[in-house]
Amino acid sequence: MTTAPGLLRIRLCFWALAALGFLFPGPCRSQGLSDRWINNARQPWLDNRGKPLDAHGAGLMEFRGVFYLYGEIKEAPTWHLGGQKWESYRVPAGGISCYGSTDLVHWKFRGVALAPVHDPSSDLDTGKVIERPKVVLNPVTGKFVMWMHVDDRTYHEARAGVAVSDRPEGPFHYLGSFRPNGAESRDLTLFQDRDGKAYLVFASENNTTLHIQPLSPDYLRPAPGFQRILIGQKREAPAVFAWAGKYYLITSLCSGWDPNAAAWAVSDRMMGTWKQQGNPCRGKDSAVTYFAQGAFVIPLPGRPGKFLFGADRWNKKDLRDSRYLWLPLDMEASGPVIRYAEHWHPFPPEIMRKTRGGQ
Ligand code: DGJ
Repeated sequence: MTTAPGLLRIRLCFWALAALGFLFPGPCRSQGLSDRWINNARQPWLDNRGKPLDAHGAGLMEFRGVFYLYGEIKEAPTWHLGGQKWESYRVPAGGISCYGSTDLVHWKFRGVALAPVHDPSSDLDTGKVIERPKVVLNPVTGKFVMWMHVDDRTYHEARAGVAVSDRPEGPFHYLGSFRPNGAESRDLTLFQDRDGKAYLVFASENNTTLHIQPLSPDYLRPAPGFQRILIGQKREAPAVFAWAGKYYLITSLCSGWDPNAAAWAVSDRMMGTWKQQGNPCRGKDSAVTYFAQGAFVIPLPGRPGKFLFGADRWNKKDLRDSRYLWLPLDMEASGPVIRYAEHWHPFPPEIMRKTRGGQ
């Protein structure tokens, strides 16, 4: 069979382009118009300045079509604090970063949302611990409210800190910290319900039991009443989301910076009875959450029943070089299911066009 010269030229062109893609995979693919993938293989993730995303233990909030990512800034060398029962690799508290994105893939650095200080009497001292920031907009005051875990370097203070800002990117003004109901508060998350009520969910009682603490209408203080859940089950890294009239909670076990199996729990109400279920992860390495630990779950707008599970791949000996793993979480008949995907589209092209400004 002979090949027409035009067709031959097209084929040669195709193979030349394919060879270029093979030789220079990064730049060619990252500049493609269809580059809307969350790429778990390509690490580190770079922001608009070409710098690695520095947003660990993150929280993610959507406001007016823009996703805001808040995370722990870890930019100094890791050191080891001896004599502790828990994993004692530490990094100076670098404050909280903020990034913005419309597609969850391309991130623009929006600045330091909450700066650390050099003052050992402050929760925000660089010698202490500032972890797992979560932000929501308060509908009553119109302020953005950030809650975070603040601690001394031995993790014995175990408090929940709160800060406010008029703008999503900050700067946030730090108001102080609480031990809600006098209880220890370590790994935490913040959940805002559809009725406007917000709740802190945190690891307490020496990390053996989670507490759910309703917040005041302005979200700045614990409100009366709280409940203990998953008692004695040693869960941390909580992430809460709602779907089809039920509330879901994904947690990790407590093993310092080392990965372990995630589990999901479900309840009819935030202050209802939470029932612990199995591991939401499937397939290879699901017993260690694919070597990561959860940080947040957010619904994917325009994609009912589809969520993003954001997790940290901690590098305990060089915490600033910790990476990320963001996976699809699908609501199935059995409950939430997380499957490993090396790369995936949080918003397929038709959804991008319809719901995310036609990008
Ligand atoms: C596990 C927690 O989930 C992290 O946020 C951090 O506090 C480490 N433990 C510290 O060992």
